[in-house]
Amino acid sequence: MQYETLLTAKEGMLGIITLNRPQAMNALSSKLVTELISALNEFEKDDEVRCLVITGSERAFSAGADIKEMSAMTAVQMTMTGHFFPLWDKVGRYPKPIVGALSGYVLGGGLELAMSLDVLVASETTQLGQPEIDIGVMPGGGGTQRLTRAVGKAKAMEMILTGKRIGAEEAKTLGLVSRVVPKEAYLEEAKKIANEISSKSPVAIRLAKMAVNKAFEMGLSEGLDFEREVFYLLFSSEDKVEGMKAFTEKRKPEFKGK
Ligand code: CAA
Repeated sequence: MQYETLLTAKEGMLGIITLNRPQAMNALSSKLVTELISALNEFEKDDEVRCLVITGSERAFSAGADIKEMSAMTAVQMTMTGHFFPLWDKVGRYPKPIVGALSGYVLGGGLELAMSLDVLVASETTQLGQPEIDIGVMPGGGGTQRLTRAVGKAKAMEMILTGKRIGAEEAKTLGLVSRVVPKEAYLEEAKKIANEISSKSPVAIRLAKMAVNKAFEMGLSEGLDFEREVFYLLFSSEDKVEGMKAFTEKRKPEFKGK
């Protein structure tokens, strides 16, 4: 499909989505949000695609919600359109793994989008922040909850109440991104990780992703019960038989997602 605000491509088992509104630092306009949901749906249905990579440009992954569009909106319009909620719901419950390839500005809703993805690779030029306070609002796409869970209360409060950005290395130290690489390499590195994930059992990957996400929602004993149930469930998959057989036969497994 052709999109106005995104580029999409398939590379082997990867679905690549590039946010593409360079004139607005990839601000998340309602058009972009609608198109991103369509692209996610498209790759979700495509059985050849095992892992997604979402990226932006070198200058900006995304500078957040489109302020020009939002400035005319009333509370009632925000409520009636649901504004961003369909996107957060879609990304938050997406069954396939998504690697975020970050560079430049990752701000506001852009950071909230990134934090909803699964593995984050950042270029050394990346700057992350929740600057909504500077325009008289506050994070509205999960930032107060996800950032706090990711970096702890003190740092989340500092970032959200001052609007100050942090750099890639600090984000890595805080556990907000998993890898920092030179600016020429961030997309390739993200694809490398996505390809590695794609080579595993899609069933095990799906359930492992679900179980890790439960750690943010459940208490420890409920989370451990959930983990045990899905771990046992994997013993009914063909991929488990193949994986263990390949290990004993000293060869690479061929996983089929069955
Ligand atoms: N919405 C709409 N347009 C944006 C934008 C945004 N979030 N961010 C940047 N742009 C536009 C600018 O208006 C500018 O367009 P024009 O040339 O037509 O004026 C263009 O992108 C380039 O931006 P700048 O000239 O400002 O570039 P810069 O290098 O000087 O600064 C920046 C870059 C630091 C990202 C700065 O643009 C900025 O602070 N942007 C706003 C960031 C922000 O406040 N994000 C939070 C949005 S609210 C939100 O996300 C709510 C939520 O939780 C869901």
